[in-house]
Amino acid sequence: MSQKIENAVALVTGANRGIGREFVAELLRRGARKVYLGARDPASLADLVALDPARLVPLKLDVTNTADVANAAKIATDVTLLINNAGFAGGQGVISAPDLSIARQEMDVNYFGLLSLSQAFAPILAKVPQSSIVNVLSFLSLVTLPLAGTYSASKAAGLAASRSIRAELLAQGTKVVVTMPVQVETDMGRSLPEPRLQPLEVVSETLDAVEAGVEEVFPGELTRNVAAAFAADPKGVQAHMSTRLPA
Ligand SMILES: NC(=O)c1ccc[n+]([C@@H]2O[C@H](COP(=O)([O-])OP(=O)(O)OC[C@H]3O[C@@H](n4cnc5c(N)ncnc54)[C@H](OP(=O)(O)O)[C@@H]3O)[C@@H](O)[C@H]2O)c1
Repeated sequence: MSQKIENAVALVTGANRGIGREFVAELLRRGARKVYLGARDPASLADLVALDPARLVPLKLDVTNTADVANAAKIATDVTLLINNAGFAGGQGVISAPDLSIARQEMDVNYFGLLSLSQAFAPILAKVPQSSIVNVLSFLSLVTLPLAGTYSASKAAGLAASRSIRAELLAQGTKVVVTMPVQVETDMGRSLPEPRLQPLEVVSETLDAVEAGVEEVFPGELTRNVAAAFAADPKGVQAHMSTRLPA
Protein backbone atom coordinates (compact mmCIF):
# COMPACT_ATOMS: atom_id res chain seq x y z
CA MET A 1 0.00 0.00 0.00
CA SER A 2 1.29 3.50 -0.80
CA GLN A 3 1.27 6.28 1.77
CA LYS A 4 -0.11 9.82 1.64
CA ILE A 5 2.22 12.55 2.89
CA GLU A 6 -0.72 14.67 4.01
CA ASN A 7 -1.17 14.05 7.75
CA ALA A 8 1.91 11.80 7.92
CA VAL A 9 4.21 12.12 10.93
CA ALA A 10 7.77 12.03 9.60
CA LEU A 11 11.22 11.74 11.12
CA VAL A 12 14.10 13.02 8.96
CA THR A 13 17.68 12.24 9.98
CA GLY A 14 20.36 14.75 9.04
CA ALA A 15 17.59 17.35 8.80
CA ASN A 16 19.75 20.41 9.42
CA ARG A 17 21.23 20.84 5.92
CA GLY A 18 21.36 19.59 2.35
CA ILE A 19 18.78 17.08 1.16
CA GLY A 20 17.46 16.56 4.69
CA ARG A 21 16.54 20.21 5.08
CA GLU A 22 14.76 20.09 1.71
CA PHE A 23 12.81 17.01 2.83
CA VAL A 24 11.55 18.98 5.82
CA ALA A 25 10.40 21.93 3.68
CA GLU A 26 8.64 19.68 1.15
CA LEU A 27 6.96 17.58 3.86
CA LEU A 28 5.50 20.79 5.28
CA ARG A 29 4.33 21.91 1.82
CA ARG A 30 2.62 18.55 1.29
CA GLY A 31 0.72 18.80 4.56
CA ALA A 32 2.62 16.49 6.92
CA ARG A 33 1.03 16.72 10.37
CA LYS A 34 4.35 16.74 12.23
CA VAL A 35 8.03 16.38 11.33
CA TYR A 36 10.70 15.33 13.82
CA LEU A 37 14.04 16.81 12.78
CA GLY A 38 17.08 14.74 13.71
CA ALA A 39 20.47 16.43 13.95
CA ARG A 40 23.72 15.82 15.79
CA ASP A 41 23.61 19.41 16.98
CA PRO A 42 20.01 20.53 17.69
CA ALA A 43 21.18 24.18 17.70
CA SER A 44 21.71 23.80 13.93
CA LEU A 45 17.92 23.30 13.60
CA ALA A 46 16.84 26.54 15.27
CA ASP A 47 16.09 28.58 12.11
CA LEU A 48 14.33 25.64 10.48
CA VAL A 49 12.09 24.96 13.50
CA ALA A 50 11.21 28.67 13.58
CA LEU A 51 9.49 28.23 10.18
CA ASP A 52 6.67 26.22 11.77
CA PRO A 53 7.19 25.52 15.49
CA ALA A 54 3.77 23.89 15.78
CA ARG A 55 4.69 21.10 13.36
CA LEU A 56 8.50 20.84 13.67
CA VAL A 57 10.10 19.01 16.60
CA PRO A 58 13.89 19.07 16.98
CA LEU A 59 15.64 15.92 18.20
CA LYS A 60 19.27 15.39 19.13
CA LEU A 61 20.03 12.41 16.95
CA ASP A 62 23.46 11.16 16.00
CA VAL A 63 22.50 8.05 14.03
CA THR A 64 25.64 6.27 15.25
CA ASN A 65 24.78 6.85 18.90
CA THR A 66 22.69 4.01 20.34
CA ALA A 67 21.38 6.11 23.23
CA ASP A 68 20.26 8.91 20.86
CA VAL A 69 18.42 6.39 18.67
CA ALA A 70 16.70 4.76 21.67
CA ASN A 71 15.74 8.18 23.00
CA ALA A 72 14.32 9.23 19.61
CA ALA A 73 12.16 6.09 19.54
CA LYS A 74 10.92 6.91 23.06
CA ILE A 75 9.93 10.46 22.09
CA ALA A 76 8.73 10.03 18.50
CA THR A 77 6.20 7.26 19.13
CA ASP A 78 3.77 8.56 16.49
CA VAL A 79 6.10 8.36 13.46
CA THR A 80 4.53 6.95 10.29
CA LEU A 81 7.31 7.88 7.83
CA LEU A 82 10.99 7.38 8.67
CA ILE A 83 13.47 9.08 6.33
CA ASN A 84 17.01 7.76 6.76
CA ASN A 85 18.78 10.64 5.08
CA ALA A 86 21.89 11.29 7.22
CA GLY A 87 25.03 10.43 5.31
CA PHE A 88 28.78 10.83 5.28
CA ALA A 89 31.25 10.63 2.39
CA GLY A 90 34.97 10.72 3.13
CA GLY A 91 35.93 10.92 -0.56
CA GLN A 92 38.62 8.28 -0.67
CA GLY A 93 39.58 5.13 -2.51
CA VAL A 94 39.85 1.71 -0.90
CA ILE A 95 43.60 1.16 -1.34
CA SER A 96 44.76 4.78 -1.23
CA ALA A 97 42.99 5.44 2.10
CA PRO A 98 45.59 5.94 4.85
CA ASP A 99 43.71 3.64 7.24
CA LEU A 100 40.22 2.29 7.87
CA SER A 101 38.89 5.12 10.02
CA ILE A 102 36.94 6.97 7.30
CA ALA A 103 35.60 3.71 5.86
CA ARG A 104 34.35 2.73 9.32
CA GLN A 105 32.67 6.11 9.76
CA GLU A 106 30.94 5.76 6.38
CA MET A 107 29.69 2.32 7.37
CA ASP A 108 28.64 3.61 10.81
CA VAL A 109 26.55 6.44 9.39
CA ASN A 110 25.38 5.14 6.00
CA TYR A 111 24.84 1.48 6.89
CA PHE A 112 24.67 0.88 10.66
CA GLY A 113 22.81 4.17 11.18
CA LEU A 114 20.15 3.07 8.68
CA LEU A 115 19.92 -0.34 10.39
CA SER A 116 19.73 1.12 13.86
CA LEU A 117 16.92 3.59 13.03
CA SER A 118 15.00 0.96 11.06
CA GLN A 119 15.16 -1.54 13.94
CA ALA A 120 14.17 1.08 16.53
CA PHE A 121 11.22 2.42 14.51
CA ALA A 122 9.86 -0.79 12.96
CA PRO A 123 7.56 -1.46 15.98
CA ILE A 124 6.34 2.15 15.91
CA LEU A 125 5.59 1.98 12.17
CA ALA A 126 3.74 -1.31 12.74
CA LYS A 127 1.07 0.50 14.76
CA VAL A 128 -0.50 2.27 11.75
CA PRO A 129 -2.05 0.96 8.52
CA GLN A 130 0.09 3.22 6.26
CA SER A 131 3.80 3.56 7.03
CA SER A 132 7.07 3.81 5.12
CA ILE A 133 10.81 3.92 5.49
CA VAL A 134 12.71 5.99 2.93
CA ASN A 135 16.40 5.23 2.64
CA VAL A 136 18.45 7.89 0.87
CA LEU A 137 21.09 5.84 -0.92
CA SER A 138 23.01 6.78 -4.06
CA PHE A 139 23.57 5.65 -7.61
CA LEU A 140 26.86 4.47 -6.11
CA SER A 141 24.81 1.72 -4.41
CA LEU A 142 24.83 0.11 -7.87
CA VAL A 143 28.20 1.10 -9.34
CA THR A 144 31.51 1.82 -7.61
CA LEU A 145 33.35 5.11 -8.04
CA PRO A 146 36.99 4.49 -7.05
CA LEU A 147 37.25 8.17 -6.02
CA ALA A 148 34.70 7.29 -3.35
CA GLY A 149 35.30 3.56 -3.12
CA THR A 150 34.60 3.07 0.58
CA TYR A 151 31.50 5.31 0.40
CA SER A 152 30.22 3.28 -2.58
CA ALA A 153 30.60 0.11 -0.49
CA SER A 154 28.58 1.64 2.37
CA LYS A 155 25.80 2.65 -0.01
CA ALA A 156 25.76 -0.81 -1.64
CA ALA A 157 25.40 -2.25 1.87
CA GLY A 158 22.50 0.14 2.45
CA LEU A 159 20.75 -1.17 -0.66
CA ALA A 160 21.20 -4.81 0.34
CA ALA A 161 19.88 -4.06 3.83
CA SER A 162 16.92 -2.09 2.43
CA ARG A 163 15.79 -5.10 0.39
CA SER A 164 15.88 -7.26 3.50
CA ILE A 165 14.03 -4.65 5.58
CA ARG A 166 11.38 -4.48 2.82
CA ALA A 167 10.87 -8.23 2.91
CA GLU A 168 10.87 -8.38 6.71
CA LEU A 169 8.35 -5.55 7.10
CA LEU A 170 6.03 -6.67 4.30
CA ALA A 171 3.74 -8.47 6.73
CA GLN A 172 3.25 -5.38 8.90
CA GLY A 173 2.49 -3.24 5.83
CA THR A 174 5.49 -0.89 6.07
CA LYS A 175 6.79 0.06 2.63
CA VAL A 176 10.52 0.57 2.03
CA VAL A 177 11.48 3.11 -0.65
CA VAL A 178 15.08 3.63 -1.71
CA THR A 179 16.20 6.67 -3.65
CA MET A 180 19.46 6.54 -5.60
CA PRO A 181 20.44 9.95 -6.98
CA VAL A 182 23.61 10.85 -8.83
CA GLN A 183 25.44 14.02 -7.71
CA VAL A 184 23.33 16.61 -5.89
CA GLU A 185 23.99 20.31 -5.23
CA THR A 186 24.76 20.13 -1.47
CA ASP A 187 27.87 20.41 0.70
CA MET A 188 28.53 16.73 -0.06
CA GLY A 189 27.99 16.95 -3.80
CA ARG A 190 29.49 20.33 -4.58
CA SER A 191 32.91 18.96 -5.58
CA LEU A 192 31.34 16.43 -7.95
CA PRO A 193 31.11 17.12 -11.70
CA GLU A 194 28.39 19.35 -13.11
CA PRO A 195 25.57 19.17 -13.94
CA ARG A 196 24.19 18.32 -10.51
CA LEU A 197 20.66 17.63 -9.31
CA GLN A 198 18.87 20.15 -7.14
CA PRO A 199 17.91 18.78 -3.69
CA LEU A 200 14.25 19.55 -4.42
CA GLU A 201 14.25 17.26 -7.49
CA VAL A 202 15.46 14.39 -5.32
CA VAL A 203 13.05 15.10 -2.49
CA SER A 204 10.02 15.75 -4.65
CA GLU A 205 10.40 12.61 -6.79
CA THR A 206 11.17 10.50 -3.71
CA LEU A 207 8.03 11.66 -1.91
CA ASP A 208 6.06 11.11 -5.15
CA ALA A 209 7.33 7.51 -5.06
CA VAL A 210 6.15 7.08 -1.45
CA GLU A 211 2.71 8.31 -2.51
CA ALA A 212 2.67 6.12 -5.64
CA GLY A 213 3.99 2.96 -3.99
CA VAL A 214 7.20 2.85 -6.09
CA GLU A 215 10.05 1.01 -4.32
CA GLU A 216 13.26 2.07 -6.10
CA VAL A 217 13.63 5.63 -7.35
CA PHE A 218 16.18 7.22 -9.70
CA PRO A 219 15.29 10.86 -9.07
CA GLY A 220 15.81 13.55 -11.69
CA GLU A 221 16.46 13.30 -15.42
CA LEU A 222 20.21 13.21 -14.83
CA THR A 223 19.89 10.07 -12.68
CA ARG A 224 17.40 8.48 -15.06
CA ASN A 225 19.82 8.92 -17.98
CA VAL A 226 22.61 7.21 -16.03
CA ALA A 227 20.21 4.49 -14.88
CA ALA A 228 19.15 3.87 -18.50
CA ALA A 229 22.79 3.62 -19.61
CA PHE A 230 23.46 1.25 -16.70
CA ALA A 231 20.47 -0.96 -17.60
CA ALA A 232 21.70 -1.17 -21.21
CA ASP A 233 25.38 -1.77 -20.38
CA PRO A 234 26.22 -2.25 -16.67
CA LYS A 235 29.82 -3.27 -17.34
CA GLY A 236 30.37 -0.28 -19.63
CA VAL A 237 29.10 2.18 -16.99
CA GLN A 238 31.27 0.54 -14.32
CA ALA A 239 34.28 0.67 -16.67
CA HIS A 240 33.66 4.39 -17.22
CA MET A 241 33.40 5.02 -13.43
CA SER A 242 36.56 3.00 -12.90
CA THR A 243 38.59 5.53 -14.89
CA ARG A 244 38.03 8.09 -12.10
CA LEU A 245 40.79 7.18 -9.68
CA PRO A 246 41.90 8.84 -6.44
CA ALA A 247 44.92 11.12 -6.85
N1 LIG B 1 25.07 15.20 -2.42
C1 LIG B 1 25.17 14.17 -3.25
O1 LIG B 1 25.80 14.28 -4.32
C2 LIG B 1 24.48 12.87 -2.92
C3 LIG B 1 24.29 11.94 -3.96
C4 LIG B 1 23.66 10.74 -3.66
C5 LIG B 1 23.23 10.48 -2.38
N2 LIG B 1 23.45 11.39 -1.38
C6 LIG B 1 23.00 11.04 -0.04
O2 LIG B 1 22.03 11.99 0.38
C7 LIG B 1 22.01 12.06 1.81
C8 LIG B 1 22.08 13.52 2.24
O3 LIG B 1 23.31 14.04 1.79
P1 LIG B 1 23.56 15.59 1.47
O4 LIG B 1 23.97 15.67 0.05
O5 LIG B 1 22.43 16.40 1.96
O6 LIG B 1 24.87 15.82 2.34
P2 LIG B 1 25.32 16.98 3.34
O7 LIG B 1 24.86 18.29 2.85
O8 LIG B 1 26.75 16.70 3.56
O9 LIG B 1 24.48 16.64 4.67
C9 LIG B 1 24.73 15.46 5.37
C10 LIG B 1 23.76 15.40 6.53
O10 LIG B 1 23.98 14.17 7.25
C11 LIG B 1 24.21 14.50 8.61
N3 LIG B 1 25.02 13.52 9.31
C12 LIG B 1 26.28 13.09 9.04
N4 LIG B 1 26.69 12.21 9.96
C13 LIG B 1 25.66 12.07 10.85
C14 LIG B 1 25.43 11.31 12.01
N5 LIG B 1 26.39 10.50 12.51
N6 LIG B 1 24.24 11.41 12.65
C15 LIG B 1 23.27 12.24 12.18
N7 LIG B 1 23.42 13.01 11.09
C16 LIG B 1 24.60 12.92 10.42
C17 LIG B 1 24.88 15.87 8.55
O11 LIG B 1 24.83 16.47 9.85
P3 LIG B 1 25.99 17.50 10.37
O12 LIG B 1 25.58 18.85 9.87
O13 LIG B 1 25.95 17.33 11.85
O14 LIG B 1 27.28 17.04 9.77
C18 LIG B 1 24.01 16.55 7.52
O15 LIG B 1 22.79 16.95 8.08
C19 LIG B 1 23.20 11.23 2.28
O16 LIG B 1 22.76 9.95 2.70
C20 LIG B 1 24.05 11.12 1.05
O17 LIG B 1 24.89 9.99 1.09
C21 LIG B 1 24.04 12.59 -1.63
